[in-house]
Amino acid sequence: MTQLPGLLDTEAIRKDFPILDRLVHDERKLVYLDNAATSQTPRQVLDVLSEYYEQHNANVHRGVHVLAEEATALYEGARDKVAAFINAPSRDEVIFTKNASESLNLVANMLGWADEPYRVDADTEIVITEMEHHSNIVPWQLLAQRTGAKLKWFGLTDDGRLDLSNIDEIITEKTKIVSFVLVSNILGTVNPVEAIVRRAQEVGALVCIDASQAAPHMPLDVQALQADFVAFTGHKMLGPTGIGVLWGRQELLEDLPPFLGGGEMIETVSMHSSTYAPAPHKFEAGTPPISQAIGLGAAIDYLNAIGMDKIQAHEHALTEYAVRRLTEVPDLKIIGPSTAEDRGAAISFTLGDIHPHDVGQVLDEQGIAVRVGHHCARPVCLRYGIPATTRASFYLYSTPAEIDALVTGLEHVRNFFG
Ligand code: ALA
Repeated sequence: MTQLPGLLDTEAIRKDFPILDRLVHDERKLVYLDNAATSQTPRQVLDVLSEYYEQHNANVHRGVHVLAEEATALYEGARDKVAAFINAPSRDEVIFTKNASESLNLVANMLGWADEPYRVDADTEIVITEMEHHSNIVPWQLLAQRTGAKLKWFGLTDDGRLDLSNIDEIITEKTKIVSFVLVSNILGTVNPVEAIVRRAQEVGALVCIDASQAAPHMPLDVQALQADFVAFTGHKMLGPTGIGVLWGRQELLEDLPPFLGGGEMIETVSMHSSTYAPAPHKFEAGTPPISQAIGLGAAIDYLNAIGMDKIQAHEHALTEYAVRRLTEVPDLKIIGPSTAEDRGAAISFTLGDIHPHDVGQVLDEQGIAVRVGHHCARPVCLRYGIPATTRASFYLYSTPAEIDALVTGLEHVRNFFG
């Protein structure tokens, strides 16, 4: 068995994930390498979810009965866990949403409806990058179309990094918001936050960071990032689907208007007008994703027990190994940084002229689950002149043996297509 320095005890960890023991297609062992799309869920999280529904299920913030009080304490306890996990100065800066897309749409809509000095209008500019997930492109396109603001973006270098050579022309005095991904879901690139934040602060622009592929894999400290908003999602970090997070700086959340109206987010309502609850409730209209937030809290407990720095080291060792092994496969071309430096554990590649959908299908027949397509980051494929990629992505339970299985699987793909 291949041993690499910095690996976690995956034998012990994998016992917590029943799904990883599944057999697929003619009793083949599942090799799950689609963690950037969604992660698997440990028993500890499943147990918390079952216990919640078996013992405490009620709506939150509304009832005076014992179940309502317990459910509220658990839901708000999850907010405390998220706040501590990202080193937020205040728990009131943590807004629960449905997913990272909703978090990013929320920021775009707060700014679209805001008064000065935050208002985005025809005299202002919005800055993103060419490596964004569609969820950090489309909300800004919509905002630009509705307000007349100009949408600008950083391009990419040939080796999958942000081209910041023209940073002073892209981020200008007109820029209202710079929104970019911390770790690319398709290229794996870890972006240089500091340089972008420094320039944004020089011109007084707000900064929003999509941390969907970062929060599950590395320590995340919103104060160190110096951003104004940070978005991520629960289902990529061992939690359930249907739960996202938007962290925002307190004074911004106090000043900015709500997006969705309804129950939960108000202070008083008359037939003429309403006043709003303080943040974060101002941004959580309707019954929130209660069990999902509690499940995310349990996932955070699990991640903390292992240690985010150890998870990061494990994935770095795996990424180094995977890059080395994949480079040995004839005709394989990595799309993104070709070393493990400043790189996350999602590796996209092409294999000669075999279409990625065919690669994915033949791998699946061998029990190997990868994602194929444009990975909701189609501009990246356009930039590199490819229709799609195959992407393998690792997590805390992934092993070198699974990378070996992928490499063997790719040899089968090559043989199959001659
Ligand atoms: N954003 C997810 C991915 O990259 C779905 O696969």
